[in-house]
Amino acid sequence: MKVSTVQFIQSSPSIDKCPEEKKIPEYAFVGRSNVGKSSLINYLTNSKIAKTSSNPGKTQLINHFLINNEWYLVDLPGYGYAKVSKKTRASFNAFTKKYLSERKNLIYVFVLIDVRIKPQAIDLLFMNWLGENKIPFVRIFSKCDKVNSINIKKRVLEHRESLLKSWEEIPEYIISSSKSKIGKDLILEKIESSKNLII
Ligand code: GTP
Ligand code: MG
Repeated sequence: MKVSTVQFIQSSPSIDKCPEEKKIPEYAFVGRSNVGKSSLINYLTNSKIAKTSSNPGKTQLINHFLINNEWYLVDLPGYGYAKVSKKTRASFNAFTKKYLSERKNLIYVFVLIDVRIKPQAIDLLFMNWLGENKIPFVRIFSKCDKVNSINIKKRVLEHRESLLKSWEEIPEYIISSSKSKIGKDLILEKIESSKNLII
């Protein structure tokens, strides 16, 4: 798939303020703060439409972008950022979880995992929560330009081991780097081949 047009639609503070679902297939990008969600969205859309920052906690609302007048790409706030207050963190989690579990046109969640970091309890908890709620997801290992291929493999295996503690089948994964432009084709293929899953 080629991304020909990208249009920012709106930032929403809650699911009831999100754009109407209208049978438009939707894909959300989630993960720890600073993992590279907004940068990946810019890379995928060949634009600078999503706000990025080296300070964690930049994205704080549910941001809808319409791609090719056909599907929504959603940039979500990161989780697990220690410097926002516990109350704010909890409310982000609550609204992100509400959005993820209730949004009817959501086809896949792309869960970003920083390839440099060993499996973290918060990521595993989040993926377990997605599994328990039957929300389909694909893992994306981000920032792969920062690590050599041997260590990427090592990290992927570590994650596999961690997930096997609670999963029988391991959800698929894609290697990516927004900086070195790796992973775009596989992510867009995944989107292209699943758009017809909309009910
Ligand atoms: P929040 O909105 O705060 O949750 O963060 P985010 O996940 O959207 O991360 P963002 O895209 O803003 O990127 C965070 C930092 O990581 C920025 O300094 C980016 O330049 C850097 N970064 C993002 N992707 C990559 C990558 O593929 N490689 C490298 N080396 N750095 C990256
Ligand atoms: Mg962001």
